[in-house]
Amino acid sequence: MKSSTSFVCQECGYESPKYLGKCPECGEWNSLREFKVEGLKLKAERRPETSVKKLSEIKLEEKQRLLTGFSEMDGVLGGGIVKGSVILLAGDPGIGKSTLLLQVGLKLAKKNKILYISGEESEGQIKLRAKRITKETNQADFFLVSETNTDSIASIVQQIEPALIIIDSIQTMESENLSGLSGSVGQVRYAASQFIKIAKSLNIPIIIVGHVTKEGMVAGPMVLSHMVDTVLFLEGEKFTSTRILRSFKNRFGPVDEVGIFAMEEKGMPEVNNPEQYFLGKNQDKAPGSVLVATLEGSRPFLVEIQALVVFSKLPMPRRVSSGIDYKRLELLLAVLQKHCRVPLDTMDVFVNVAGGLKLSDRASDLGVCLSVFSSFRNIPLAKIVGIAEVGLLGELRSVPFLEKRIKEAKKLGFKNIFSANTYKTLSDTLSSLGK
Ligand code: TYD
Ligand code: MG
Repeated sequence: MKSSTSFVCQECGYESPKYLGKCPECGEWNSLREFKVEGLKLKAERRPETSVKKLSEIKLEEKQRLLTGFSEMDGVLGGGIVKGSVILLAGDPGIGKSTLLLQVGLKLAKKNKILYISGEESEGQIKLRAKRITKETNQADFFLVSETNTDSIASIVQQIEPALIIIDSIQTMESENLSGLSGSVGQVRYAASQFIKIAKSLNIPIIIVGHVTKEGMVAGPMVLSHMVDTVLFLEGEKFTSTRILRSFKNRFGPVDEVGIFAMEEKGMPEVNNPEQYFLGKNQDKAPGSVLVATLEGSRPFLVEIQALVVFSKLPMPRRVSSGIDYKRLELLLAVLQKHCRVPLDTMDVFVNVAGGLKLSDRASDLGVCLSVFSSFRNIPLAKIVGIAEVGLLGELRSVPFLEKRIKEAKKLGFKNIFSANTYKTLSDTLSSLGK
């Protein structure tokens, strides 16, 4: 086995074929050290001779994508996993990354060889989790290994030649070539670059798990996002069951696309009709509940907003929001106060988005205002859908893809839709409701 020499920066993991006094990546002096690279002898695929082609002559290869079997996930990826691509799945610890990937792996293993490398849990623990998720846990083509050494992983991969590799997680991977502890920026970057080499040279897709760390994600996924092809985020509140898979970067598909899953007792089933989670059940008669049609990526969702407005005993009344931006809520309350003469300055206001979704879409402004008004006046407004941005002058503004959102609301049987098409101002809208 021929071994080659390379120089690796001990600070950031930068790799160079020759010695450099100063690391060009992080600017550190005398940080490069020499290593013999032994493990990563990859059978490079023989390249055909380079020839110039016309665009029209290039044939697109079909079936380049591996379908996960979860339409919510395939959609987010832009139609499945591209061969040889590297996907980073990022998210808070405990949000369900391992569960989701184990589930995907087990499903794919019915027809493909899957290699699941865990640096976090023992094989026994993973088997237990697999038992929780599915009844058939003796898939012959599901290979499991507890390993954290990137060099050994490279040789395992060549031995098994899987159709998909899952690495859980990048923060636990380390190489002897670097002195830093696993999880340090240097180790994380170096390990990621090793895996990218494996993916590209063997044309095997790799999904890498990355925990989002609280301290600005220094050693976490953000360091890697420019190295990998795709970055997915798994989001959700721990105390609600909804989990949202979102594409943050994608070289092979759309960004900001979302897929919905639910964390349940036995795994994470995908949710094809999210309304069951985002629309409350007993909303008909209770005041304070209004619907909004928000857009995530290209998908419209109907979501319930709930508000509670009560007399405040405090000199500074409380404003509590979950799921919508606090500043945006304050602004909307000020508009209600000034332009619609709703005296909220003596009221505590609580606003909540059902299902644990976070709304950043301005189109939900009107819905928030309506729900606050509904609770304040004690009139039920359920089954009303508000789709408009509210301006500082109290005007209703049109929002992108209004038609698409209205269509979604109508599809689910809601006919009372308020938007910039129905009324010009917020105050007109409230008058029509019997202000
Ligand atoms: P996990 O996938 O380990 O999170 P991550 O890999 O992102 O750190 O999920 C952890 C949580 O999920 C844990 O609190 C238990 C819960 N869980 C379920 O509710 N149902 C299940 O079927 C499984 C496997 C886990
Ligand atoms: Mg995990």
